[in-house]
Amino acid sequence: MLFYTCLQFVIFCTIATLKPSISLNLSTVSFNEVFSPLYGNQDVKTSDNGKSVQISINRWSTSGSGFVSQNTYNSGLFTASIKLPNNGYTAGVVATFYLRNNEVKRDEIDFEFLGHVEGEEWSLQTNVYGNGSYNKGREERYSLPFDPSLDFHNYSILWDTNRIIFFVDQYPIRETENSVSIGGNFPSKPMYVYATIWDGSDWATHHGKYKLILQRGPFVASYYFIINACRAMLPECNIALPGGISADERLKMIMYRALYMSYSYCHDKDRYPDSLPECRDEGYGMQPVQASISKATRRLI
Ligand SMILES: *[C@@H]1O[C@H](CO)[C@@H](O)[C@H](O)[C@H]1NC(C)=O
Ligand SMILES: *[C@@H]1O[C@H](CO)[C@@H](O)[C@H](O)[C@H]1NC(C)=O
Ligand SMILES: *[C@@H]1O[C@H](CO)[C@@H](O)[C@H](O)[C@H]1NC(C)=O
Repeated sequence: MLFYTCLQFVIFCTIATLKPSISLNLSTVSFNEVFSPLYGNQDVKTSDNGKSVQISINRWSTSGSGFVSQNTYNSGLFTASIKLPNNGYTAGVVATFYLRNNEVKRDEIDFEFLGHVEGEEWSLQTNVYGNGSYNKGREERYSLPFDPSLDFHNYSILWDTNRIIFFVDQYPIRETENSVSIGGNFPSKPMYVYATIWDGSDWATHHGKYKLILQRGPFVASYYFIINACRAMLPECNIALPGGISADERLKMIMYRALYMSYSYCHDKDRYPDSLPECRDEGYGMQPVQASISKATRRLI
């Protein structure tokens, strides 16, 4: 069995590969040890002995708030347990959890929640940028099999030199391989962990049709973090997870995508008439079929 050394903050640990099983440290990190406020500092508040953090758009200001990790990471499994604002109407509110660096040729891996209007579901968007490919958004959007504002749910990014896998609770929902076709657009440089909340009224909810209504605020998103990752300053520390997900997990991913994915850049012929190269790889970016399955049916499956 292959073992890799990794660092969970100051402490070394050894983890096995994802197959047969990865032994993870499931402890929630302490906000002050790992993160710092980024903006809107007065609206970055910790609770639960410093393990949970709340960020908000408050009644008086749309500027929002956010925080960022103190260190960069080479690779790892990054989990945010998130409870979204439970205001009934959250149009325009964008709450995020992402990895990113500040290089000129930036890399970024995103989870973004795009607000909702009463009676409708929240939309979750994922995106990947590598080596400054900002002109090539690789967005996918999905609905969720639960109301993300009622309870905490786990949203994870597994990122190593071979692949990126996004998870929603136990479901892998997207896999982006470091293939020849994606080439230099695969994120490869150390990244920070971020979480933010901000006003995305101009595009987030129904393409900007429904805007943020400040009087419905404050809009508060709560986070916990579990991080099993390699701090970038340690050259020997680079978690690789050969093999990726199991056949069972792959099946779950295919099911999830069939039932909940509503948009994929791979099928947006207006934006990419020829589609991006990796979209032509076998098994990649399957056609969204969610629109043809009713919400009630999806809940039953
Ligand atoms: C697990 O992570 C927590 C939080 O970062 C840390 O305090 C603890 O020492 C870690 N345990 C091990 C065995 O690495
Ligand atoms: C999120 O992950 C933690 C740690 O693995 C687990 O205890 C918790 O039950 C998970 N929550 C959900 C909603 O799956
Ligand atoms: C990143 O982009 C630059 C040009 O913009 C290119 O020279 C470089 O080779 C790219 N890096 C990778 C890893 O592809």
